[in-house]
Amino acid sequence: MSKVAATGTTREKLIKLLNEDLSREYQAVIAYVNYSQVLKGASYMKIAAELTLHAREELEHAIQIANHVDYLGGMPSVTARPVKTSKKAEEMLRFDLENEKETIRNYRRRVKQADELNEFAIAESLRGILVQEQDHLVALATALGIDAPKPGIAEG
Ligand SMILES: [Fe+2]
Ligand SMILES: [Fe+2]
Repeated sequence: MSKVAATGTTREKLIKLLNEDLSREYQAVIAYVNYSQVLKGASYMKIAAELTLHAREELEHAIQIANHVDYLGGMPSVTARPVKTSKKAEEMLRFDLENEKETIRNYRRRVKQADELNEFAIAESLRGILVQEQDHLVALATALGIDAPKPGIAEG
C-alpha cells in the first residue's frame, strides 16, 4: 500500500500529476519556439527575443520534471498538450499568458503535494520552476500592457 497523506495524495497520484505538468512543459517549449519566430512587428521584437529564452527555460523544466517522475518510479510522459497557433502577435501572447497561469496554478498545488509526501527535494525543484514561471507571466503581461493576472492555486 502506498503512503496516503492527509489530503489523499499518494505517490501514484503525484506521478500522474507530474506527468500532466510534463505535457504542459512540452507544450510550452513548442509554443515558445513557434511564437518567438512567428511574432512580427517592431513593437514586439523585445518580447520575441525573450520568448526564445522562455523556450530554453521550459526545456530545462521538462528535464527536471521527467527526472522526478523517473525517480518516483513512473514513466515520463512523451506527449505535449495541444499548441494553438495564430498569426496575430497579441493572440499568441494571450495564449502564452493563459498557459502560464494554468502552469503556476498547478505547480503551487504540486509543491504542497510533494511536501505532504515528504518529497522535499521535488518541492524545492518545483519552487525554482515556479519562480521562472512567474517571471514568464509578468513578461507576457508587460508585453500586453496589462497587470499580471493572479493565477490562484489548482484543486487537489
Ligand atoms: Fe515551465
Ligand atoms: Fe513558463
